[in-house]
Amino acid sequence: MSNKENNRDNTQYLTIKEEKAIARENKKIMTQFEREKNRKNVDESEYTTQMRNPSNVIEFDNLHTYFYTDVGVNKAVNGVSFVVPEGKIVGIVGESGCGKSVTSLSAMQLVQGPVGQIVDGSIRYTTSEGKCYDIAKMPRDEMRRIRGKEISMIFQEPMTSLNPVFKIGEQLDEALEIYNENLSASEIKARSIEMLELVGIADPENIYSNYPHELSGGMRQRVMIAMALICEPRLIIADEPTTALDVTIQAQILDLLLEVKDSIKGSIMLITHDLGVIANMADYVVVMYAGKIVEAGEINDIFKNPKHPYTVGLMRSLPSLSNIENQEKLFSIPGQVPNAVNLPDYCYFCNRCDYSFDACYESYPEDILFEDGHRAACFLYADRFKDLDLNRPQLPKNIASSSDDQFARKIPQGRVDFESINNPKEKL
Ligand SMILES: Nc1ncnc2c1ncn2[C@@H]1O[C@H](COP(=O)(O)OP(=O)(O)O)[C@@H](O)[C@H]1O
Ligand code: SF4
Ligand SMILES: [Mg+2]
Repeated sequence: MSNKENNRDNTQYLTIKEEKAIARENKKIMTQFEREKNRKNVDESEYTTQMRNPSNVIEFDNLHTYFYTDVGVNKAVNGVSFVVPEGKIVGIVGESGCGKSVTSLSAMQLVQGPVGQIVDGSIRYTTSEGKCYDIAKMPRDEMRRIRGKEISMIFQEPMTSLNPVFKIGEQLDEALEIYNENLSASEIKARSIEMLELVGIADPENIYSNYPHELSGGMRQRVMIAMALICEPRLIIADEPTTALDVTIQAQILDLLLEVKDSIKGSIMLITHDLGVIANMADYVVVMYAGKIVEAGEINDIFKNPKHPYTVGLMRSLPSLSNIENQEKLFSIPGQVPNAVNLPDYCYFCNRCDYSFDACYESYPEDILFEDGHRAACFLYADRFKDLDLNRPQLPKNIASSSDDQFARKIPQGRVDFESINNPKEKL
């Protein structure tokens, strides 16, 4: 740890009086945001916008989502910009608490209010009817037209979305009914059963009449996927969809996601802390750290030529065959993600970074652009420091020169698409 860092002790204690003052101030801000969101009969022009690039399904632009807690403002998402192109899978990766879920919940307007609020930025989305809305500014009532039908979400734990007191069939029927009022009861049931079949459930008629607790974890996750896809959404957000499942079922569920994505011609935002899953699935990768994007690019650029020391650290943390053969201890990035209530005004990764130098403690690094949209926020690549003799990160030889199954090995069965890892551009 450097001396500079020692001088910057972020520990702060609040008195009861200070906490009360924060709570009062928060209440004022939250009430204002809630009032804005609950407005009725808002003119559509207030939240109509235009995509920067019409071939994107969704564009996050400088998104800020904060939680107004009694100990201060938690800047969970703090200026995030990325896009999901049509038909593509964008993987979002980062340690726990980096703001991955809050980013995706923002796109669904499901951030837990009144404490959580989108405070700045835009989320541009074009509906299947061709209208482009800024979700960040949409009133709550209007958002119901998009949530579930246009954008749907698959969560890590299916029981948080499945209601234990209703049969699977009833829940699927309901999801379909909301947006298809003109379908008859028998048509709805037939579609629900067809959907169960599509997600690989054998004997779908029987399962239709089961309660969630009667199914295994893998089956429940399949039902969740069926529910998320029944209205044929254009964008599927999968938040750690396989983390609660064992590795074989994980491979089957990821396979399934890919199949159904193609069958409904959708796009996927895939959130995971598992780089192995990203390597198998994604076309583009976004690396998040403490509410910001630290690196983003095409999968090949990120895996073969990672720039940000955090991305390199994540890669090095992947277990590999050579770790086992050489009986090496698995690498882990020392330290923790900083507290989002008390972020420094310089690089957030300083306290964990082996490559930090003076400039890193003076301001937050700007995005540096590399080839083909590959970008990283790190001073090591800033032009003004290019002549300094800095220690720049390299992937350890055993990873850099390893075959691509290095990244695919976490998924022993199912789809291991080496083509996409080697030649992602050919897929575009
Ligand atoms: N309901 C909430 N109230 C207060 N803070 C929250 C809430 N939900 C998430 N946060 C905070 O937002 C930050 C980002 O969380 P999250 O997006 O869930 O992380 P990830 O999905 O990357 O693990 C964390 O600091 C977390 O504590
Ligand atoms: S800006 Fe400095 S501290 Fe931050 S990641 Fe780059 S080298 Fe490390
Ligand atoms: Mg999460």
